[in-house]
Amino acid sequence: MKRNVKGKRILITGASRGMGAELARLCAKAGARLALVARSKIELEKLASELTALGADAKAFPADITCNIERDNLFRQIKDHFHELDILVNNAGSGSWNHFVDGNEEIVRQLMEINFFAPAEMIRQSIPLLENGDQPAIVNIASMTGRRAMPSWTEYSASKHALVGLTEALRGEMARFDIDVLLVLPGLTITPFWENLALKTGRANLGIEKGMTPQVAANGILNAILSNKTETVLGWDAHWMLRLDKFFPKLVNWLLARRVKQLYATR
Ligand SMILES: NC(=O)c1ccc[n+]([C@@H]2O[C@H](COP(=O)([O-])OP(=O)(O)OC[C@H]3O[C@@H](n4cnc5c(N)ncnc54)[C@H](OP(=O)(O)O)[C@@H]3O)[C@@H](O)[C@H]2O)c1
Repeated sequence: MKRNVKGKRILITGASRGMGAELARLCAKAGARLALVARSKIELEKLASELTALGADAKAFPADITCNIERDNLFRQIKDHFHELDILVNNAGSGSWNHFVDGNEEIVRQLMEINFFAPAEMIRQSIPLLENGDQPAIVNIASMTGRRAMPSWTEYSASKHALVGLTEALRGEMARFDIDVLLVLPGLTITPFWENLALKTGRANLGIEKGMTPQVAANGILNAILSNKTETVLGWDAHWMLRLDKFFPKLVNWLLARRVKQLYATR
């Protein structure tokens, strides 16, 4: 069933910048009512003012979604303001670019917290609000690495695989409540994500400059919501890699291992 976002109450995590902020702009233009969530109060309030000036109903709800107390408080405020929700977009996330051997336990835990535990609990706490929503949906923004794990994205790939697993299992469970569960797998996107990596010791040339703009990625997410598409791959690199991996997984393993050996031939 196609979906219209006009008048829909949409909670977007990670709305202070990057894809989340651009998605908020697109949803506001389409007439949605928005709950903007991230830690940076100033950035969120700036965006809420920008959208309100355009006639949209957008409110900033600053919160660290990895913190139980802040999440509980967030949901109390959302309930007071919107009563119910129609769409939850789990977009907040962060990465680390390093070989596992150069990382540490803190990075694994940090990425699991923001990329997996936080969206999982956001979903649990949203279900009672989504149950009575209008064409309700949960939209999880994972990554291409959630389907094909990549060297130097080890902890990140693991956290996004966990999110993909949760998404697939929930899709069946949420049918009970008529809540659609959508998955988006973006490839390289030019956002502040790259400035906020936990570690940046990977050696490959990622070609970030060839990535999508956050506007293109946000447009892809909005289209997934409107068309109610179960799984959406965004970006040329993600399409290329996931297709190659689907048909030739052994070749991909071999190519990646060969590249790692070349890059690490000198220590
Ligand atoms: N950029 C890429 O190439 C790429 C590729 C594939 C997938 N993705 C995924 O796409 C999503 C959006 O990424 P992006 O590129 O737009 O990244 P970004 O520009 O770094 O934005 C990340 C957002 O998450 C928020 N956030 C981080 N930790 C948080 C926390 N503890 N509580 C609440 N909010 C938090 C940040 O806001 P505050 O710092 O203000 O909290 C920010 O708004 C992420 O899930 C990312 O993993 C990105």
